[in-house]
Amino acid sequence: MKSSRLIASLPDSRLIEALRDVAGEVDLIEWNFIEPPPREVIDLVVVPYMSSPQLLSILSGVRTRLVQSQSVGYDGVREALPRGHVFANAATVHETSTAELAIALILASQRGIPDFVRAAKNGQWAPKWHESLADREVLIVGYGAVGQAIESRLLPFETNVTRVATKERSDSRGTVFGIDSLPELLPSFDVVIVGVPLTEGTTHLIDDAFLSLMKDGSLLVNISRGKVADTDALLRHATSGRIRLALDVTDPEPLPPGHPLFALPNVLITPHVGGASSAMLPRMARLTTEQLSRLRAGLIPLNVVIES
Ligand code: DGY
Repeated sequence: MKSSRLIASLPDSRLIEALRDVAGEVDLIEWNFIEPPPREVIDLVVVPYMSSPQLLSILSGVRTRLVQSQSVGYDGVREALPRGHVFANAATVHETSTAELAIALILASQRGIPDFVRAAKNGQWAPKWHESLADREVLIVGYGAVGQAIESRLLPFETNVTRVATKERSDSRGTVFGIDSLPELLPSFDVVIVGVPLTEGTTHLIDDAFLSLMKDGSLLVNISRGKVADTDALLRHATSGRIRLALDVTDPEPLPPGHPLFALPNVLITPHVGGASSAMLPRMARLTTEQLSRLRAGLIPLNVVIES
């Protein structure tokens, strides 16, 4: 007799443990995409976190109802996903944590925390005045859920926040400028945060022209994808000392050991860890639980971004 229980594969035991509440109704199997597929039919497959899209080719020959990513960004997935699968991203999982990291990078860069850490490492008490975040003009380029989460955390710091999205629109806080306004906007901002998805149109959005338009001494924060910036242009502008950088993403990733960007005192680099915090697991478990109950009820899953 055909079983009506759903089968879900999860890439690690922590997620399986977090899904304990659904385990009575769903067969949970651990599969990290390294071993061959454990079944021919798996209703919901959760993809290992931060894995290359190329890994998705392992799903060819597996019948699924939903392939659930653990990332918000899905650049490269359309090209790599075998035909016949429905793919959902992890919207709702990483916005909080990524916005938190963006604020941490901005505060650390503005207040010179890396300099104080370097001085302390040499046993030095080295007071110095730095830029505040208060009263700064901040531009958010990319006004999706992450951009909005960053904005709501920035406003209590008494900043002036301007937003840029693909197309101009207005909301309760005023105008959200279109991306074509960037050349006029960039020269006026102390902090520019880029959180756009990587597409053909946003590849090397941050290029020599973009950086040249930024104000002297301003800070560029990239929490989107490394390829949204031209690394050579970043290096040139940061080496000149004219602008400061806070980068959670780089091109390439990992940034090779000894890369010149690591050595610059005005560049703060974190290794693509926007989502990598304790906020992820409970949110990922909530999303997966919701997806399973939707599959069970025959409803359309949340966050579907690709149907191959
Ligand atoms: C995302 O969600 O796309 C992050 O960059 C990786 O977690």
